[in-house]
Amino acid sequence: MKYIDIVRKNECKDRFCNLYNESESMLITKNKGFEVLRISMPKGNKGVMPPLADHITEVYYILEGCLSFIYKNQEEFLYKGDTFVLRTYPKAIPYIVHEDLTMILSTNHLEFNKHKEILDLLQEQMDLLENSDLHSRSHCERLEKLLYPVIKYIHLEAYRAENLIYAACYHDVGKIKNGQMNELIDHPSHGAQLVLPYLGEDVAQIILQHHENVDGSGFPNGLQGDEIILEAKILAVVNKYDHLIHDHQLSQIEAIDYLKVNVDKQFDKNAVDVFIQSLGVR
Ligand SMILES: [Fe+2]
Ligand SMILES: [Fe+2]
Repeated sequence: MKYIDIVRKNECKDRFCNLYNESESMLITKNKGFEVLRISMPKGNKGVMPPLADHITEVYYILEGCLSFIYKNQEEFLYKGDTFVLRTYPKAIPYIVHEDLTMILSTNHLEFNKHKEILDLLQEQMDLLENSDLHSRSHCERLEKLLYPVIKYIHLEAYRAENLIYAACYHDVGKIKNGQMNELIDHPSHGAQLVLPYLGEDVAQIILQHHENVDGSGFPNGLQGDEIILEAKILAVVNKYDHLIHDHQLSQIEAIDYLKVNVDKQFDKNAVDVFIQSLGVR
């Protein structure tokens, strides 16, 4: 290893982009027990800083921009030159980026390679899906746009909202298995398995349940009513709505009618109601 390792402004050892919130993480250096990353996030980015395990410390130094987070019921704003240190904390902390942000993160949380490998793998699957015309990135983007008002309307907690957005993005990632088209009925379980190591149990559950119907006629497990989690019920409605409009070319009114007709069969009544309310139509 070199005695002095110089990394210039726009250089890094490795990088990964988070498809959803458009953040980019660049690895500046790593050694036994620590990593230094440069993280960029665009203005408007919202998310959560997940709870940290006991022995983890993360030091963030802001090079450019502004973000705020809610800590002990108070909104703290941080600007260029400020530092914040995260130690063991049992709860996820929601944050908002107010100006394009660049930060240096120095941490003993050795996650870079794990995140990168799994994100690359998910991304590869998503590219295959897109190439095989089964799913488009714009579908994901539209789902995100449709979900935000619903999330706001029902005051879904930040970490659950983030999980729902991730699940929406990757809901059909399981349609490709070993580079081939997967059996339709198998795609929720395969997708859940794929995302589990990176995005966690909650996102995996939403993906697993996105084709369950409240009357038990869905797949893969034929769950009924409240056996299906709220996030999966919402995703089922919003996903169907977008497919009806963009794949089946239904008008908004026709798509809403389809949802209403299928209340208590395919869809949860509450999920349909809040979605229609969030669209601002009756
Ligand atoms: Fe699906
Ligand atoms: Fe879909």
